[in-house]
Amino acid sequence: MKKHIVVFEPSGLRISVDGQSTFLEAIRMVGLHLPSDCGGAGTCGKCSLVLQPAPEPTFEDDRSISSDELAQGVRLACQHRVKADTRVVITKQRGEVQILTEGVSRQDDWIPDSGGEGRYGIAIDLGTTTIVTYLLALDSGVQMSQLASLNPQVVFGEDVISRITHATREKNGQVELSKRVTTEIDSMVSSLIESSGIEMENLTRMVIVGNTAMHHLLLRADVKSLGVSPYEPSIRDALVTSGSEVGLLSTPNVEVFLPPNIAGFVGGDTVGFILSQRLDLSEQIIVGIDVGTNGEIVLSKRGELSCCSAAAGPAFEGATIRYGMRGQEGAIEHVLVKDPENPPEITIIGDVPPQGICGSAIVDTVAEMRRTGIINEKGVMQSTSPRVYRDDDFGLSYLLVEESATSRKISFTQKDVRQVQLAKAAIHAGITILLQEAGITASDIDFVMLAGAFGSYIQPESALRIGLLPPVKRDQITQVGNAAGEGAKALLLSSEARKVANDFVSKVKYIELAAHDEFQSVFIDSIALP
Ligand code: FES
Repeated sequence: MKKHIVVFEPSGLRISVDGQSTFLEAIRMVGLHLPSDCGGAGTCGKCSLVLQPAPEPTFEDDRSISSDELAQGVRLACQHRVKADTRVVITKQRGEVQILTEGVSRQDDWIPDSGGEGRYGIAIDLGTTTIVTYLLALDSGVQMSQLASLNPQVVFGEDVISRITHATREKNGQVELSKRVTTEIDSMVSSLIESSGIEMENLTRMVIVGNTAMHHLLLRADVKSLGVSPYEPSIRDALVTSGSEVGLLSTPNVEVFLPPNIAGFVGGDTVGFILSQRLDLSEQIIVGIDVGTNGEIVLSKRGELSCCSAAAGPAFEGATIRYGMRGQEGAIEHVLVKDPENPPEITIIGDVPPQGICGSAIVDTVAEMRRTGIINEKGVMQSTSPRVYRDDDFGLSYLLVEESATSRKISFTQKDVRQVQLAKAAIHAGITILLQEAGITASDIDFVMLAGAFGSYIQPESALRIGLLPPVKRDQITQVGNAAGEGAKALLLSSEARKVANDFVSKVKYIELAAHDEFQSVFIDSIALP
């Protein structure tokens, strides 16, 4: 019987099931939990979730779900069999995924503007996967409260390209995407204000940083040009607007600042990264990397800035890895192979049986397999270890865990290794091209700065071992956390920061890798494992 792939959000877990299984059964098979008080009879209405694509509603759906929700694809998991590849969003799970909120910055460089007494502002890091909001006192810069949530647009796909496709192909697609985010931000703003006990009228400014696609989708700006080469943004300059113009109901009269977009895939979040670390003033040679589905790379050659975006794909987020998942409870986060003959040592998020493997462990696994000779420098799995076996569907696989939360094996396949090699080659090639263009080599680098969730949770030693990073010493690598969020705070507090950011459009040299003569050959050279 034909099998279909079901991908669960927000965990990113996936499973292949035949058309006899219901979505409720598929959820149980991957070890997730969904309330099902009536045991699948279709009467309790507890097992609702979002299906994409959504099948025709059944009588039971109609009875338990509002027409608005039905239109959004909400269905009862117990009432539908898996008849097509489907994305399933299990809603109301705020906070379950490990969301990076903390960051390191040179915040002292940004002195809050005068006149902010008794006023507050909200800095927002609008990411493709997550939204992080910070409430700050505008006079002192003191953070009153913070809140993180998943970006509800994830229902339309994990990466920016699927969102752009939805916005351009579907009638009302763009409005729908924007509304999802503004509704979430409205709810987060209300919670921040409520928990801090401040008056809404004292909230006077907001700053929103995000990649160019998130920025354009929020503003309902034309995104067609982001989907085709040369991937030009339709809005490049910084914007000062109002909450009502952005579509925020909670803060219609609040001033909203959005920093400029440097290029189609290098947006205001990278501006935030540069500002928070003052890469523009550095006296050293620093490579800053924020790895997501796209890896944004910034080179500061003693303050002279250049950047590029490397299409790493979603492997590091677990999306193309057989047992990949996001960093949440049940995810294996670290792997250490002490002896290739014996089970590896693993660390799991939360004190629970493992369900899958997240980005940091994906890097560890390849690094450890390489270190212990389970794979060779080409990434080819060697069947010398007794833990390497032939899986009927996936070929040679390395057994990580014998029995997981769902009584199934968790393994790392030959194809997974290949996906990681391609992803790391894209990042490595981007760094190499930036260095080449600046007339320097990896030996000139003083520091590598890793920003963002992936950069904060990976073990730098493993990243070095697989050649994701240029060959520097461990103590030359710093992990700066949510640098984009720190940049958003600087922009919120300081008019000087906003002024500096405005100039980045002309000051930061952007290199389009796809159009670079040497990119392909450098990329191919970067696929091997050191
Ligand atoms: S389990 Fe009760 S309606 Fe689905």
